[in-house]
Amino acid sequence: MKPLRIALTKGRLEKKSAALFEKAGFDCQSLTDKGRRLILPIGDGKMEAVLAKAADVITYVEQGVCDLGVVGKDTIMEQGHQLFEILDLGFGRCGFALAAPRGADFYGGYRVKTIASKYPSVARRFFESKHMDVRIIKIEGSVELAPLLGLSDGIVDIVETGATLKENGLEVIEPIAQVSARLVVNPASMKLRKGEIEALAAKLEEKLER
Ligand code: PRP
Repeated sequence: MKPLRIALTKGRLEKKSAALFEKAGFDCQSLTDKGRRLILPIGDGKMEAVLAKAADVITYVEQGVCDLGVVGKDTIMEQGHQLFEILDLGFGRCGFALAAPRGADFYGGYRVKTIASKYPSVARRFFESKHMDVRIIKIEGSVELAPLLGLSDGIVDIVETGATLKENGLEVIEPIAQVSARLVVNPASMKLRKGEIEALAAKLEEKLER
């Protein structure tokens, strides 16, 4: 049987994902000493980890080249449609929020507002739910810059500690959703390798911090 292949999100979630797999009894030394290798054996060789950017974790799992993934709910909300979300891993907790320059009357006036976001679908759905017409501009990072530069009236972005907003003269206008890391599964893998996947999810769930 091929090893169960799991895509882990590089960066902020990487260490916590490895720590959880370790706690659940899978040796993750290869992740610590990975060098430039991209596919790493974990546990007793029955699993392989792939480190990828969040958006690519979703692509690999949806396309079925990885059976499972660990990825933030923010990326799932933005672009994950054809996968099962089977476990809230509890770490990487933060929130989506609408933010704007401090003291600005964001909802005031009749002019169509411009919103900058790394998450245009999330932003679009949020304003659709309010029946509010906005123009959305996709930004790749440091979205807080957009209102400071005069490009947008507000942003839809991730807020963790709130420090980035505060230090740039912005404030939350409205929270949108809470997010955290999730275990996701390819639907075909869920059928074909149900036993292994359920056993893994149960082991991880047992070690989650409550
Ligand atoms: C995220 C997010 C905010 C910041 C929020 O950006 O987009 O900019 O973190 O964190 P805080 O509330 O604790 O200040 P990230 O650092 O991932 O980089 P990016 O802006 O380039 O996407």
